[in-house]
Amino acid sequence: MKRFNDKIAFITGAGGYIGGTTARMLAAEGAKVAVCDITEEACARTVQAIEEAGGRALSVPADVTNSACVDAAIQRTVEALGGLDIMVHVAGGSARQDMKCLADQSDEVILRILGVNLLGAIWASRAAARIMRDQGRGGRIINISSIVALNGLRGSVDYAASKGGIIAMTRALAKEMGEYGVTVNSVAPGVVQRPGAGADDSDYALKTNFLGRKCEAKDIAETVLFLCSDAAGFVTGQTWAVDGGRSLGMKGSD
Ligand SMILES: NC(=O)c1ccc[n+]([C@@H]2O[C@H](COP(=O)([O-])OP(=O)(O)OC[C@H]3O[C@@H](n4cnc5c(N)ncnc54)[C@H](O)[C@@H]3O)[C@@H](O)[C@H]2O)c1
Repeated sequence: MKRFNDKIAFITGAGGYIGGTTARMLAAEGAKVAVCDITEEACARTVQAIEEAGGRALSVPADVTNSACVDAAIQRTVEALGGLDIMVHVAGGSARQDMKCLADQSDEVILRILGVNLLGAIWASRAAARIMRDQGRGGRIINISSIVALNGLRGSVDYAASKGGIIAMTRALAKEMGEYGVTVNSVAPGVVQRPGAGADDSDYALKTNFLGRKCEAKDIAETVLFLCSDAAGFVTGQTWAVDGGRSLGMKGSD
């Protein structure tokens, strides 16, 4: 018996590394997965991978910074797949070239980083909360934060604020959704090594944890799947650091 046989999941950022891995792993465990990313092309790769592995996927492209787009994508999911049990907001990130001390940072970058990471999480969580409340069959809402929110990082005030907002939102929304049987949690990755990263990045990924190996998207996705599962039915309002212990002291970082 697969863990998510009767479940319907909506994943943002599902064309990316962590989101794509999470979507494929949920599908492999039986979930029907609505694959959301900013373009049809970004969704298509993950949809194809899920279908080739024998799973069921639906492409629902949407810009998560636009609440109407997110609402429409979730509505399509409900209509096409028959409801909504799991929402995972993964879309986001910050580009290295955008990292600047706050005193030098532009309005444009600050608004863009807050838009995708924090507003995206709020729009996707609100859309899921409405559906799950009205459906009356419980649910799981998970947003991806970052350990940068817990420890701070130079040049990342905007990103830290957006990911810290997710942690605060997780606690407050958990209190609102508990009575509907919906748990709300977040996962805070440390440095996740992408395939094809350069030698410098690879070295950094090794140095920034205490376990002597690189974190892969699968490490993050495994925790998301646990939080989506029945086994985590009494866990809500929590942020799970999946960082090889980095947040104990930001090893190797300033
Ligand atoms: N990779 C890491 O080391 C790391 C560490 C901590 C936290 N995180 C967080 O994990 C999440 C995923 O990271 P990743 O490494 O898989 O990155 P990624 O770039 O591979 O994936 C992010 C995805 O989000 C999508 N996206 C961006 N803007 C969007 C928008 N407006 N609407 C819809 N989709 C949009 C992108 O197209 C991309 O597919 C991010 O929220 C990131 O902040 C990553």
